Amino acid sequence: MVAVAILAAGRGTRMKSALPKVLHSLAGRSLIERIVNSCLPLHPLRKFVIIGYGGDLVKQSLKSYPDIEFVEQTQQLGTGHAVQQLLPYLEGFEGDLIVLNGDVPLLRPETIELLLTTHKKNRNAATLIAAYLPNPQGYGRVFCDNNNILKEIVEDRDCTPAQKQNRRVNAGIYCFNWPALAKVLPNLKAENDQKEYYLTDAVNYLNPVMVVDIEDYQEILGVNDRKQLATAYNILQTRIKDTWMAAGVTLIDPDSITIDDTVKLYPDVIIEPQTHLRGNTIIQSGCRIGPGSLIENSEIGQNVTVLYSVISDSKIAAGTRVGPYAHLRAHTIIGENCRIGNFVEMKNSKLGEKNNAAHLAYIGDATIGDRVNIGAGAITANYDGINKHPTHIGSGTKVGSNSVLVAPVVLGENVTVAAGSVVTENVPSDSLVIARARQVVKPGWRMKKKDEQKN
Ligand code: UD1
Ligand code: CA
Repeated sequence: MVAVAILAAGRGTRMKSALPKVLHSLAGRSLIERIVNSCLPLHPLRKFVIIGYGGDLVKQSLKSYPDIEFVEQTQQLGTGHAVQQLLPYLEGFEGDLIVLNGDVPLLRPETIELLLTTHKKNRNAATLIAAYLPNPQGYGRVFCDNNNILKEIVEDRDCTPAQKQNRRVNAGIYCFNWPALAKVLPNLKAENDQKEYYLTDAVNYLNPVMVVDIEDYQEILGVNDRKQLATAYNILQTRIKDTWMAAGVTLIDPDSITIDDTVKLYPDVIIEPQTHLRGNTIIQSGCRIGPGSLIENSEIGQNVTVLYSVISDSKIAAGTRVGPYAHLRAHTIIGENCRIGNFVEMKNSKLGEKNNAAHLAYIGDATIGDRVNIGAGAITANYDGINKHPTHIGSGTKVGSNSVLVAPVVLGENVTVAAGSVVTENVPSDSLVIARARQVVKPGWRMKKKDEQKN
């Protein structure tokens, strides 16, 4: 029987942020979401999240996890005080409690698994994860005997200069025999530099406590300030990119690319430099993305190319070419084998297949059939200053350069719009529409010279 508690009530003063620390985001997921995910494979009987500062926001951010129990720690008096809040919830519980700091986002599920199996095998009162850090500053130091049995944990600010030399640190990841912990929790005292109730003191009271050292110290990095947030981000990026390269994705100049770990890529995708893939983005095989592109929450079909473009909340079907310098905004759906070219902006529009909008166009709130050509400089005027209106363009229609389609308006199939037209009324299929002043030519006309004007 295992329960998990995640400590997430602290403000995270060192972040200097209005947002609770655990809600800061790392490659598409908040710190708290990451730590919650890392304990799910364990299938714990109960999952507690201790909330306090910004508690409602933290709760809200985890609403897709239905069986989390939120425990309020109204005053944040320390990590030990946080765990004390569980006493009424776990009355009579005979199993083990895994405690995870909410600010350790790179922890692997296998490490929690290792913690639990070691704990059970040795029937310890408590077991904790430690590692040797190159720079242990800020962490509690772990002192053991030769059999990895804990002598004590001393917080960084309570260490003597000699103790500070110890690079073996407490990860803030523990497994407790709950009845044993429940017995010592009420005895905690806030007699330390921070005047807080330390969970590490409860650990010090228990016996025997075993320490499990892990090799990859990066896993246990705590995020307390923006610099550590950046460090964790870089480590995560390396993990994500290594995974995709191993799965058959080419990354050209990986250091210049960023990929959220919510992104899904298929083999034989090529990502060019300075490209950023975010949110729930899916890119099918054969695509070439970048250089210089940003894609967010979008689905990209097979063999699409995207060059120096920004795409968000959109869907692009196979074989379409985007860019350079296209901007496809929310709810743009583009069919197969289209060409969306230079300086074209689209929003909330649905296009069929084999359409061309190759240069300088704005398409908003439009429905477009197949094989439509949008000429250079064509615009759907979808906004009358108060409301947005739709434009429909039938298959085979050619919208001449520099025309304005004033919405709401419907163009049928195979319509030709003469260049420079301002179309304000619907146009039936198979017609030519010219909506501009006729050209006037005056033969022999010449501007009078200045001296002629005087006479
Ligand atoms: C803690 C450990 C330290 C360890 C380090 C690892 C203690 C006393 N120290 O220090 O030994 O090396 O983690 O990262 O435990 N929290 C609450 N309520 C509180 C205080 C904190 O829920 O009243 C939460 C915070 O939101 C945070 C976590 O507990 O997620 C850890 O708190 P933090 O203040 O960051 O502890 P550290 O000083 O890093
Ligand atoms: Ca911390």
